[in-house]
Amino acid sequence: MINWATEKRPIVALAPMADMTDSAFCRIAKRLGCRIVFREMISAEAVVRKNDKTLAMAAFHDEERPIVQQLFGSDPAIMAEATQIIAEQFNPDAFDINMGCPAHKITGSFNGAALMREPKLTSKIIKAVKAATSKPVSVKTRLGWSRSDEILEFARVIEAAGADLLSIHGRTKEQGYAGQANWEMIGRAKQLVTLPILVNGDIFSAEAATEALDITAGDGVLIARGALGNPWIFAEIETALSNKTGPDPKNKIDSATRSKIVLEHARLHADLSKNERPLVTFRKHLAWYYRGQPGAKAIRQNLMQVETVSDLEEILKNTI
Ligand SMILES: Cc1cc2nc3c(=O)[nH]c(=O)nc-3n(C[C@H](O)[C@H](O)[C@H](O)COP(=O)(O)O)c2cc1C
Repeated sequence: MINWATEKRPIVALAPMADMTDSAFCRIAKRLGCRIVFREMISAEAVVRKNDKTLAMAAFHDEERPIVQQLFGSDPAIMAEATQIIAEQFNPDAFDINMGCPAHKITGSFNGAALMREPKLTSKIIKAVKAATSKPVSVKTRLGWSRSDEILEFARVIEAAGADLLSIHGRTKEQGYAGQANWEMIGRAKQLVTLPILVNGDIFSAEAATEALDITAGDGVLIARGALGNPWIFAEIETALSNKTGPDPKNKIDSATRSKIVLEHARLHADLSKNERPLVTFRKHLAWYYRGQPGAKAIRQNLMQVETVSDLEEILKNTI
């Protein structure tokens, strides 16, 4: 169960990431101390068409609870129907609506970030999804399409439509990932609304989480890239926020612990895969786990060729 109004503050959650926050990644994040996971976006239209691949993306393990399923779409009736289908079939703890994805194939049909320019449609979508479920409904968006202060009006539209929580990535759609996330602007939006706000963008450490919360007075943080190859970041942030101290450098993940976590994640990934070479799709995670790691140079090339769990065990056996 999730109740955004009463959830312990500050909330620390895993952000939705397409192709990344699948069931295996969410399970490993949970085992390492992540409190709430947002699963990657799925298309409401594809859900309504009963597309098998899309429905499979919404399946999860009980260990991942509490879990928020994100949907994208621009037709209120289809968004409502998709919400009901996912609720009946999988019963996630909450729903989230994607209003921030900048990819052209998404915004081209008024999905994702394009909704920031469509306040009336935004409001209809939120109301339709709210009417379709008794679970909490949140929205994830950016600061604006082209101007970072667009969020000041957009946050009010989202609140008035009845959303239970708003996550804001501190960049505009036009910025993509350029520049720095503007936490000050998220803080200004927070002052204008009463619905809970999660701060998102450029939180790569416990120190950054503390600073982002200080600047914004937000209700919590949502971590995306900072968790890739680094799923223990949630425990580091929770500890730092509850002790009001920085992370203890003695608790830095050593190379043997890293290898054990990588193997555990790889096994979960392989269990879910229907592929004969299940770790081909795990190489992207390996690239994150070993990015900038001293001593990883020697194994990097082999890591990028793994196909099975035993290939990976062989490469990592000397590191454990
Ligand atoms: C690989 C990848 C996939 C993403 N997929 C989604 C998605 O499905 N839904 C969404 O709302 N945001 C998605 N995002 C955006 C992130 O949730 C987040 O808003 C953004 O990366 C900024 O946060 P960060 O600085 O912590 O990475 C994705 C980001 C990445 C890097």
